[in-house]
Amino acid sequence: MTIDRKCLINWVGGKRLLRKTIAKLIPEDIKSYIEPFGGGGWVLFYKDKWADLEVYNDLDGRLVNLFRIVKYHPNAFIEEWRHLLGSREMFLQFLNGTFITDIQKAVQFYFLITRSFGGRGDTFGTVKKTSGGACKSLHNVPKKIEAIHERLDTVMIEGRDFEKLINQYDHEGAFFYCDPPYSRGCGYVVTSTKDFDHERLREVLGAVKGRFLLSYDDSPKIRELYKGFEMIAVERLNGINNREGVENRNKMFKELLIANYPIKELYEREAD
Ligand SMILES: C[S@@+](CC[C@H](N)C(=O)[O-])C[C@H]1O[C@@H](n2cnc3c(N)ncnc32)[C@H](O)[C@@H]1O
Repeated sequence: MTIDRKCLINWVGGKRLLRKTIAKLIPEDIKSYIEPFGGGGWVLFYKDKWADLEVYNDLDGRLVNLFRIVKYHPNAFIEEWRHLLGSREMFLQFLNGTFITDIQKAVQFYFLITRSFGGRGDTFGTVKKTSGGACKSLHNVPKKIEAIHERLDTVMIEGRDFEKLINQYDHEGAFFYCDPPYSRGCGYVVTSTKDFDHERLREVLGAVKGRFLLSYDDSPKIRELYKGFEMIAVERLNGINNREGVENRNKMFKELLIANYPIKELYEREAD
């Protein structure tokens, strides 16, 4: 039985399908690896170690609590998890919030994300009759938790707004992989697409001493905002996580990879 230990959760906008391409563009001579918009951490977890200092950050406190608990209290998490049943009733109970401790909060959040449609945590996800798939196993979870616990051993977990975080960790050897909310499409609990300040991010990134790699949806606004930086357009299959509408599922989705260091050569080498 194979278990994907490379990640803990599917997150809206998660870079599961792009992580290999992104990984090839990350320089090897970095002193620190920082993800200001951590989400499910698909790129962070893709490699066993990116740099001596690694930082996971997200403004969503539910994610931060989940990763902190997996880092510091994996056994308590697993113990709590063992009492769960994959039922709709329990899903609805958790959705209405019955948290007591941070450990319970982490387990209940994890349950909602992994049992919901598209990982959004709001609708109980059942197995499609036509897919022939089996009900999700609750037993694989402890193995995943242990693997992610190991991976997080030397990772700092932060829960700040991106601007404070980037300014806090910026230096010449720093590398920021930034995966902010898209300029179009769905938003997040902490910032809706409409509210996210793309111009503020551009200003902050324009002033960093370190290097950054940015992933975005391919839109005229983002192309204009980052004019002058190296840019690569990539395509991937649209997943339900991008919520561009069910009719767009399985269509190709265009994204931009933007950096303040040369990436085109690395990308072409990767494509060979
Ligand atoms: C596209 S997702 C990141 C997905 C992640 N790369 C992955 O592979 O799972 C964007 C994340 O940015 C977070 N976010 C939104 N506004 C933020 C802010 N001002 N500061 C830090 N994080 C923010 C959201 O909570 C969300 O998890």
